[in-house]
This record gives sequence, structure tokens and C-alpha cells, in this order.
Amino acid sequence: MGVVEAVISVTAMTLLGWTISPSSAHPGWGSPWGGGSSGLLPEYYMYTCPQVNDIVLSVLERAFETEPRIAASLLRLHFHDCFVQGCDASVLLDDSPMIGSEKKAGPNLNSLRGFEVIDEIKAKLEEICPETVSCADILALAARGSTVLSGGPNWELPLGRRDSRTASISIANRDIPPPNGTIQNLVTLFQRQGLDEVDLVALSGGHTIGMARCVTFKQRLYNQNGNNQPDSTLERGYYQELKTVCPPSGGDNYISPLDLASPVRFDNTYYKLILWGKGLLTSDEVLLTGRLSTTMELVRAYAEDEGLFFQQFARSMIKMGSIKPLIGFNGEVRRNCRRVN
Ligand code: HEM
Ligand SMILES: *[C@@H]1O[C@H](CO)[C@@H](O)[C@H](O)[C@H]1NC(C)=O
Repeated sequence: MGVVEAVISVTAMTLLGWTISPSSAHPGWGSPWGGGSSGLLPEYYMYTCPQVNDIVLSVLERAFETEPRIAASLLRLHFHDCFVQGCDASVLLDDSPMIGSEKKAGPNLNSLRGFEVIDEIKAKLEEICPETVSCADILALAARGSTVLSGGPNWELPLGRRDSRTASISIANRDIPPPNGTIQNLVTLFQRQGLDEVDLVALSGGHTIGMARCVTFKQRLYNQNGNNQPDSTLERGYYQELKTVCPPSGGDNYISPLDLASPVRFDNTYYKLILWGKGLLTSDEVLLTGRLSTTMELVRAYAEDEGLFFQQFARSMIKMGSIKPLIGFNGEVRRNCRRVN
């Protein structure tokens, strides 16, 4: 039995589905409590706010009932947080005299959603465990809860991130991958975060839920290579369909599902669609067509084996969630996620 199977059989399947221990994500790190080398610990709030996950889930469940897409929006928020200065809730800061909000960066403007749900979770937590749970941990908990509510894997989540006192529009513009990225481009941007090609393919599977605006895939329909031709890797029928929701001019904010087969269900159809030429973004399709054999083979493997995808998604989420956290006396625990204390 390998390390991964051993850990899974011990933590077992919870009521919510797969549970994957962080120690299985980094078998070599060998810390007994499974926090890896990041300094984060799953038990971080055990004494100071034992109900933290229940509180997060209760708010999420209600929001999800009203609008299932919120799960996708919250999963993406954690990603856009972690890729800019690390997972420090910098993405949540509003404009102020001292802060240029990342919400105004190109990949985020008119695009990121879910801030009100984070505010609601934070308000509840401030009532029950004041000045204890960081906004960065709320983002990580909301991303995991959203995955589980959508039918995806569960995992043991290392906690203890603290919140930044700064934000960076320029890093957001530079380091968040663009939807028309080439495979090399995507690999490079993930490497910059300490994430490899396996993480790239597994985490792109986040696009099994949620929507994208016409402006993010328009280039593929009308002028993929500067020759006024569509992307030749787009399946014909899907291409015709997309043109009806995304005209050559205007309609930038019309939306289309990233996984047209099951847009609110966390499953592996995202990879099957890529095999059929029905990935929505260039960045989705190039995982297969980008002539990089590692990512190509992983797309095939995850399309074939949902369990394998779930297991790797969980591991890669723990890895992404551990990017440069502020710990110890660094940063602060914000009282309001939108501004520094
Ligand atoms: C590989 C590089 C990635 C690129 C180029 C990319 C790009 C995009 C774009 C352009 C959108 C639509 C935004 C809009 O309509 O304004 C989107 C949506 C989304 N992305 Fe990604 N993404 C990437 C990786 C990820 C990762 C790692 C995750 C999470 C694990 C993720 C989760 C999502 C989700 C859930 C949505 C839907 C959000 C909603 O419906 O509100 N993406 N992504
Ligand atoms: C991606 O889109 C941006 C903005 O529209 C454009 O400037 C850039 O040239 C595009 N990149 C590629 C590889 O097509």
C-alpha cells in the first residue's frame, strides 16, 4: 500500500466524501501533525474557535441554496488571493488611501464575486470568536466548503494564515494567468508559485464549476492567431453555440459555463470536455493541445478516473493554500476583511 492509499484508508471517506490528509500531500515533510513545512496546522483553531468550520459551512450552505454558482466564485477567490503575495487575503482589501485594491486589477475587475459571503462569514465569526479567525483562513475554508458542497473532494485543511496589511495590483496583473495563455506561459506562472505541471492540470479542474464572461474567450471565436480565424481546436458544434452567446463586438459580460455538461457539479467532466474540443478557455484546451506530454497525459488520466482527479485536486489545493502564508507575528487578523485594522 502506498503512502497515499494508507492515509486515505485511515482518514476514510467521511459523510462528505473523500478526505485527504495534508501529510499525504507532502509525504516527505514528515511533520506528525501534517502541517507540512508551511507552519500551518489543521488544528489551529481547536481551542480558540472550534466551531469555525461549522460557521463557515452554515453561511455557505444558505448562499449555495440561493445561488449554486457562489461555490465557484469562492473557490476562485482563494486562487486569486494565493497567487498574489501568497494566501494573505490581500484580494479582499478595498481601495483606501494606503491600499490600491487588487479588485481593480485586470483579471479581477468585473469578474471576482463572493465578497459579500466572505463578509457574512467574517461577521458571524467576529460574534462568536472575536479577532481570532483570519480572512485568509476564511478564504481557504470557503474554497474547501464550496468544493464539498458542489460534490467534490474534502480534505484536512492546514490553518493559521494571517492577513496582509498590503495589496498589489501590479502583482495581480503580472502573476494571475490569462485565459489566452499558452501552455508554456501557464507552466511558468504556476512555477513562480512553487506549483508544478500536475498542480496546473489538477487545479484547472476547478473549472468544473462556474462561468466565464464572453470577453475571456472571444479571441478564440473570431481571431485566435491574428488571422481573423477561430481556434481550430474548438469543436465545431460548440463553436457555433458559443458564437450565439458571444458576438464579435459587445456582449463582453455575457456568461457561459466553463463545464457546459455540469456547471454546478464538481466532477471530472471538465477533462472529458477538453478531450472533445469543448474546453471553454484557451488555457483549458492547451492542457491537451499545447504539445506538452505531461499535461496532455494528465488530462486523459483525470478524464478517465474521477477518483484520481479528486485525490490530486485535494493535494494541489493544500499546496496552493500554503503559498507564502503570513504566520507568527507577521500580518494581523483583520476585524473586517475589507480593511486593515
Ligand atoms: C490555469 C490558469 C487559470 C486561468 C487562465 C483561469 C482563468 C479563468 C477565467 C478567465 C475565468 C472567467 C473569469 C470571468 O468571467 O471574468 C475563470 C473562472 C473561474 N476559475 Fe479560473 N483560471 C485558472 C485557474 C483556476 C484555478 C487554479 C482555480 C481554482 C482552483 C480556478 C477556478 C475558477 C472558477 C471556479 C471560476 C468560475 C468563477 C465564477 O463562476 O464566479 N481557476 N478562470
Ligand atoms: C491575450 O490577450 C491579450 C489581451 O487581449 C493580448 O494583448 C495578447 O496578445 C493575447 N495573447 C495571446 C497569446 O494571444
